Amino acid sequence: MKMHLDEKIWLTISFGIIMGFMLITGYQAFALEMGPPSNMETIDPQKVDQTAPFDNPGVKEIGDNEYEVVMTLQAFGFTPNNIEIPAGAKVTFILTSKDVVHGFEVAGTNINAMVMPGHIQKITQTFDKAGNYLVICNEYCGAGHQVMSTTITVK
Ligand code: CUA
Repeated sequence: MKMHLDEKIWLTISFGIIMGFMLITGYQAFALEMGPPSNMETIDPQKVDQTAPFDNPGVKEIGDNEYEVVMTLQAFGFTPNNIEIPAGAKVTFILTSKDVVHGFEVAGTNINAMVMPGHIQKITQTFDKAGNYLVICNEYCGAGHQVMSTTITVK
C-alpha cells in the first residue's frame, strides 16, 4: 500500500508534536524538579505520638534565625496551636496527620499543602512581614472541618 505524501507529512508532524510534549514534560519533571515528590518520608500513622520528631511537637530554633516547627494535624486542630515566630525567620514546617487527610494553608503566603496520614510533609517559608497569619485546613476532614484553624504570629 502506498502512502500519500500528505499522510507522511501529517504523520511526521504529529509524531514531532508528541516528542515535543514528552521533551517538555521530561525537562520540567527532571531538570526543573517539578515532578511529584519521590523521596516522600513515611511514618506509622498509628504511632505518631511515639515517633520522632512528632513525639515532641513545637517550635525549635535550629540555627541563626532558622526555626523548625514540628506539627501534627488531627480532627479538628493543629498541635501546637497558635505558634509564634520572629519576623524574618526561615521556618521549616514538618507536618503529619494523626487520622485523615488534612490541609495546611497559610493565608497570605504560598503555603498550601496536603497533609496525609503516614506521610511527612516538609515546607520551608521565610516570614518577612510581621502579623497574624491564619492557618486553615483546606481538605474536607469531617464534621469539624470548617472550625479547623490556628494562627501563626510573626513578630
Ligand atoms: Cu482538617 Cu479539614
